[in-house]
Amino acid sequence: MRYDGIKLSGRVVHGRQIGKKMGFPTANLIMCTAENIPFGVYGVRVMYQGRMLLGVMNVGTRPTFEDDSSVSYEIHLLGFSQMIYGEILEVEICFMLREERRFSSVKELVMQIEEDVRRAQQFFGNNEIDFFHWGKERRIHGENDNSIVHLMDLAFFQHCEREYGVNKGVYNTIDAWFYEQGITNILARRQEVVSFLQYVGVIKGSNERLRFGRGKLREMLTSYVKFDERQFS
Ligand SMILES: Cc1cc2nc3c(=O)[nH]c(=O)nc-3n(C[C@H](O)[C@H](O)[C@H](O)COP(=O)(O)O)c2cc1C
Repeated sequence: MRYDGIKLSGRVVHGRQIGKKMGFPTANLIMCTAENIPFGVYGVRVMYQGRMLLGVMNVGTRPTFEDDSSVSYEIHLLGFSQMIYGEILEVEICFMLREERRFSSVKELVMQIEEDVRRAQQFFGNNEIDFFHWGKERRIHGENDNSIVHLMDLAFFQHCEREYGVNKGVYNTIDAWFYEQGITNILARRQEVVSFLQYVGVIKGSNERLRFGRGKLREMLTSYVKFDERQFS
């Protein structure tokens, strides 16, 4: 059976915080809409406030913990650490990684989740998924959360520095690059800067400071555009 393209949406609620202790904080969803999804672990893309995020989702009863037999939908978002309780997430399944299983220790479960994350990153890095499609629809309809892009220049740069660890030189290069691509509107350009930094964070698989030589940065910018040719045509 194919799972890609299955969509669901749900509100983020407090879990038991076990995931956080294991090093894999998860957004636990109460479903608003859901198709019948077999228990298992999936690579997903998630729309959150007009931004596209990638993650790994577990659907099932978490048999390792035998304390609760209700079905849960939990997503570990890659390269993302904000608290988002109460928010609605729209989720689309990209691929299935494996079936849910019972592990004899939490350590084994954690090792397996690390492997799940590695495989998902590999898949997302190797496939030209339509990373920003939902985001663009939102932008066109003006529903986006625009508070960040409307910040003053310095505050916007400081946001990028704090959230993604870019220094001024890297920031200026990214900004100039999008300008050269014809995105002269500053708000549209800031949208692209943020989307690009999120993209790099996911593909590189870390929340650490983003470091790249000039050539590497251009390479990443080019591969980012590959996902979204229409924007630049
Ligand atoms: C990618 C991923 C895969 C998971 N796979 C399993 C699994 O195979 N078996 C299992 O019992 N729990 C699995 N879990 C669920 C964890 O047990 C769960 O995240 C943990 O209990 C934390 O729950 P909490 O958010 O309510 O604190 C998985 C979670 C994630 C994010």
